[in-house]
Amino acid sequence: MKKIVKNGIIVTATDTYQADLLIDNGKIAAIGQDFPVGGAEVIDAKGSYVFPGGIDPHTHLEMPFGGTVSKDDFETGTIAAAFGGTTTVIDFCLTNKGEPMQNAIQTWHAKSKDKAVIDYSFHLMIGEINEDVLEELPVVMEEEGITSFKVFMAYKNVFQADDGTLFRTLIAAKELGGLVMVHAENGDVIEYLVNKALEEGNTDPIYHALTRPPQVEGEATGRAVELTGLANSQLYVVHVSCAEAVEKIANARRKGYDVWGETCPQYLVLDQTYLEKSDFEGAKYVWSPPLREKWHQDVLWNALKNGDLQTLGSDQCSFDFNGQKDLGKGDFSKIPNGGPIIEDRVSILFSEGVKKGRITLNQFVDIMATRNAKLFGLYPQKGTIAVGTDADLVIFDPNVERTISAEFHHMAADYNPFEGMKVTGEPVSVLSRGEFVIRDKQFVGKLGKGQYLKRRRYNTPSNVTNKVIN
Ligand code: URP
Ligand code: ZN
Ligand code: ZN
Repeated sequence: MKKIVKNGIIVTATDTYQADLLIDNGKIAAIGQDFPVGGAEVIDAKGSYVFPGGIDPHTHLEMPFGGTVSKDDFETGTIAAAFGGTTTVIDFCLTNKGEPMQNAIQTWHAKSKDKAVIDYSFHLMIGEINEDVLEELPVVMEEEGITSFKVFMAYKNVFQADDGTLFRTLIAAKELGGLVMVHAENGDVIEYLVNKALEEGNTDPIYHALTRPPQVEGEATGRAVELTGLANSQLYVVHVSCAEAVEKIANARRKGYDVWGETCPQYLVLDQTYLEKSDFEGAKYVWSPPLREKWHQDVLWNALKNGDLQTLGSDQCSFDFNGQKDLGKGDFSKIPNGGPIIEDRVSILFSEGVKKGRITLNQFVDIMATRNAKLFGLYPQKGTIAVGTDADLVIFDPNVERTISAEFHHMAADYNPFEGMKVTGEPVSVLSRGEFVIRDKQFVGKLGKGQYLKRRRYNTPSNVTNKVIN
């Protein structure tokens, strides 16, 4: 059935204007005024913004980690994402050394297929480079449309890869048209600092932050960008948390390196003092990189504004406080790293960014959707509103005031790190390929309706009227 979204203010990364949208067959069929209604369903968006659906480029749904498995899976995670105005997630597929990468990809397909309520895709972790991996990579890119590869520079003896692996991944990505992503922290230095803290009897959650200081992130970020320059390749630094890392990315970009940076809502609005909360509550705020001193927040906001950082990911990796985070009682290094963020990513960026005058409305759309689609080979099918694109839309009330709380959220985790935070603005209805997933703040989607997205290679030209990979 056709739909007409009437009277809304359309906002893209470049334009803000009043228009109606005609949706046909899951796509934006026309943009204009006064379309004849015929048999179409009319959705009145008066007083609302109409944004392209958010694209979350960084999630870990049902991921084994820290001796447990992240709580939100592709069902609860994508439902919560949709409530928050996100219509596409790109999740990290973990690989195992010595095993075909296809095994890991099939595991991730099995986790997601009948559960996701919005569209989704995968990044692929690279833990080693050898002849088998080099042979498999082009096949994975061609057959699975996975065009971004993640290298961990931290989590020693778990995920961490050495510099040789990172460098060879950068070279392979250059040849194949892939985008390399790094978790940039120096895992060897962290291992030393963590052991020292524990030996000295320092076991509380705050030592998670104190054993991963900003220099550790800045150093690894600098190393990764220099290796990228040397390989003449392309790099995306995930979850940038501090001034030291921003500086390395900004300098690299000024030198002409093809380097991009993502930050996350938690680093924009929370700070290191949260890890000092009593009764082990600090564990709720343990993720890596850790929260920083408050002044880093201004650096991150400025970087989003001036383009030194370009995207916002949630780094969704949720664990219950009771039963999961408490694995680390008496030893902060055993607290599972991560938090429930996916639902509040868009709202926090809007409320703290646009409403407080830190970024423009169009920058907001770029940061939460458009740039992500461009970098990860989904544009223009996803990430904008134009004739021919998927009708992934968020009808957003920019004036409603509300308080974030685990009482109302849709994530499975038993707490919300933004508990009590007042925000302005909320998605009212969310459509994925022209179908309501959220309607008037109620979930009306269907499990398994989300489609797996094969993505284009990095920096390949795209055109709405040309073939769109689906
Ligand atoms: O603490 C975090 N960030 N957990 C998720 C895994 C990762 O490092 O991104
Ligand atoms: Zn990470
Ligand atoms: Zn992550």
